[in-house]
Order: sequence, then structure tokens, then C-alpha cells
Amino acid sequence: MQKIAMLGSGFIGRFYAESIHGQRGRDRVVAIYARREESAKKFADDYGCDFWSISMEEIISSPSVNMVCIALPNNLHEEAVMLCAKHKKAVVSTKPLGRNAEEALRMMQAVEEAGIFAGYLEDLCYSPKFLKALESVKSGSLGRIIWAKSREAHPGPHSEWFWDIEQAGGGCILDLGCHCIEISRNFIGKDIRPVEVMCWADTQVKPIDAEDHAIALVKYENGAIGQFEVSWTFRGGMDLRDEVMGTEGTIWINNFLRTGFEMYTSGRGGDYVAEKAESKSGWLFPVGDEVNDLGYNHMFTDMFNAAEEGRDAAETFYDGYVVNAVIDAAYRSSKTKLWEKVELPVWRGQEGVTKPSNYVEHDEEHYLIKREVTHDGRNKLILKNKITGKISEQDV
Ligand SMILES: NC(=O)c1ccc[n+]([C@@H]2O[C@H](COP(=O)([O-])OP(=O)(O)OC[C@H]3O[C@@H](n4cnc5c(N)ncnc54)[C@H](O)[C@@H]3O)[C@@H](O)[C@H]2O)c1
Repeated sequence: MQKIAMLGSGFIGRFYAESIHGQRGRDRVVAIYARREESAKKFADDYGCDFWSISMEEIISSPSVNMVCIALPNNLHEEAVMLCAKHKKAVVSTKPLGRNAEEALRMMQAVEEAGIFAGYLEDLCYSPKFLKALESVKSGSLGRIIWAKSREAHPGPHSEWFWDIEQAGGGCILDLGCHCIEISRNFIGKDIRPVEVMCWADTQVKPIDAEDHAIALVKYENGAIGQFEVSWTFRGGMDLRDEVMGTEGTIWINNFLRTGFEMYTSGRGGDYVAEKAESKSGWLFPVGDEVNDLGYNHMFTDMFNAAEEGRDAAETFYDGYVVNAVIDAAYRSSKTKLWEKVELPVWRGQEGVTKPSNYVEHDEEHYLIKREVTHDGRNKLILKNKITGKISEQDV
């Protein structure tokens, strides 16, 4: 059984508590830290916590807590992780791990030195559709992965601190790009080094200092390309889509809008439709089981099982740090308008990977470019001569 202290009683703290109490049943959020007494008390009442406090250290150090769940604004993640290291408490942290890679690296090193379990709560790498897609990619159904795109776009976050660049550490790149980067990394291979990033970012709509819209390409050492599209200005709900392209196949995933559940209402009756839904009437796209469909259930099951089995979870602080490093490069690129190197002072994946050959053997003289069946019944091969380079067709 995990006896969890939740740090933060807001939006994600509540989603996490619903999932923790719902899935394995035996795990409990026993304690809650929040900034204000009334929110701590309300959360404790809602989730049956044994105690609450407005002192983070009091909650973390309590002997009746064996795991800490960080659900705080981005600028407080490092302080919370350092207290967990000090009191040797297993810790799981929401995304992004740090506001930048320097913070994330310090957190990773602190938990490793303390010898405590540390999991990175990247829920979108645990959604049922994502897990099934990743299994297909790992079994080779898509061949070699050459492009992995992820898009997260919505009308903007729900609390004031996200909009303050100092507390949040960035805009939609940091807030949403962290999910997309880790999704692409999983499909391309977490042991493949992300080498450089080209990013466009702008503040197109909102009166803020950070970016509210961005698009970026992330080049990987094996020649694969990751792509992310993020926005805090998208209208119409929360758009969560992934696309993977391999030499043998393709995957398209729609995680949230247009998932096959469509409903019309004149507006009478219920109110909550789904996270970031902008309307309660007309044609709506509800989500069957948000906690499950967003990956929280599978995520906490993996985190708790991993902690109990003494292994790493699928998403670790190391992953959070790599993601932060890619984001730092994206921010640099958005300013310089150049490809910017991903700085990874600690790298634990493969070294010196090269792009595989594009040349498929056909016979002694030719490489195969493509097989084609045409509407007039021809079955032909398009070939390239190995010496002359001449392109030809051959009927089979
Ligand atoms: N899908 C996801 O993984 C996901 C979704 C939303 C948020 N998050 C992450 O969760 C973290 C918290 O986001 P949220 O949406 O729950 O925010 P929120 O504003 O809804 O809640 C934050 C909570 O932190 C606590 N807090 C303590 N000190 C605070 C301070 N100085 N300022 C503000 N709040 C303080 C409060 O209890 C507050 O309710 C962020 O790091 C965010 O990126 C992750």
C-alpha cells in the first residue's frame, strides 16, 4: 500500500487523487499540503486525508507518508524534490520536471544521491491508446520510425500562475511541449539522442510575456524527426493527437476530441463535458473516462508497482531532464531562428548512432525503389541501377 502525501490541492492534485483512490483501491492520499488552509481542509475532506498542513516540510517528513506526489506550480517542484531527498521519501512529480534542464538535472541528481524512488508523471505516455501504439511500434509493425508528431492545443490554462513566466518558467512550449516531446521520444526510441531543434514560437493572441503558440522539429541522431505543435490559443476544446510514420506503417491517434463519442444538447441539464471543453451546448465531444483515457490510472499503477518491485517506472526523472533539455534548445532556437544543439551533460542512451542506409537490394544490378499495382492490372517494380543510377520499370 502506498501512503501518499499530495502536494497541491488544485486541478491536477484532484485528478491524481481520483485516480489513486480509484485504481488499485489499496493506495490512499493520507496527507495534503496546500498554500491556503481552506483549500487544504477542503481537499482533506473531499478525499478523506488523515491530516493536512500549509507547511510542505511537515507533510513530507511525516512518518505516516511513504510517497510524495508533487502537483504544485512549476517553480515549486525543485524545492519539493529537495525536501523529499532530505527526508528520503519516494517521490513522483508532475510535468514539466523543471522549468529548465539545469533545475531538472539538479533534481535527478538529488534523488539518485538520496537513493529514493523517483517517477515522472507523464500521463500521456500511459494513455490506453498510446500504450497500444507503443507496443505495435516496439514489435516492429511500423518498421523503422522516421517521424513522430504530437500536438497539444487548447484555449489556455486554468490558473493564474501558468501565465506568469517567472512561476511557470515558460509558455505553451514548456507546459504542453513536454508531453509532445516525450511522446515522440518513446516512439523514436528513448535511447536515441535528440541532437538539435528548430522552433518557431510567438505570442499571437494573449497579452503575456511567454509564447502562446509554437511549432518545432527535433532531430534525432538516427535520422528520425520529432515534431511538436502546441498552443494556448486553440479554440474548440483540447486537441490531443499523435501521428507516427514508419517504413512499414502509420499510426494516427486522437486522444480527446472526436474520439467516437459525439453528443448534441440544447444546453439543458449537466455542465461539465471534458477538460478545457469550451461549450456545454450544441454538438459536444465528451470523453468516456477522462482519468483513464488521459493515462492517470496506468501511470500510477506503473509508479506504485515499480516502487514496490525496486525497479524504475517507464517514466523517470532522467526522462524529465531529457525533455527539459529539448525544451531549452527549442527556446534558444525560437530566438536565434537557427537549429540549436540539445545540451545533455548526462546522456545514458546509445552513442554515435548513424542514419541507416536507404538502399534496398533487389538484384545484383539494382536497388528497389517501389512496388506498384496499377489500375490496369500491371504489377511492376521501380528500380535504380547500382552503377549508372538510371531509374527503370520492370513488369512482374
Ligand atoms: N496532464 C498533466 O500532467 C498536468 C495537467 C495539469 C497540470 N499539471 C502540472 O501540475 C502542476 C500544478 O498544476 P495545476 O493545474 O494543478 O495548478 P493549480 O493552480 O490548479 O493547483 C496548484 C496548487 O498548488 C498549491 N500551491 C502551493 N503553493 C502555491 C503557490 N505559491 N502558488 C500557487 N499554488 C500553490 C495550491 O494548493 C494550488 O491549488 C504544474 O506543474 C502543472 O504543469 C500537469
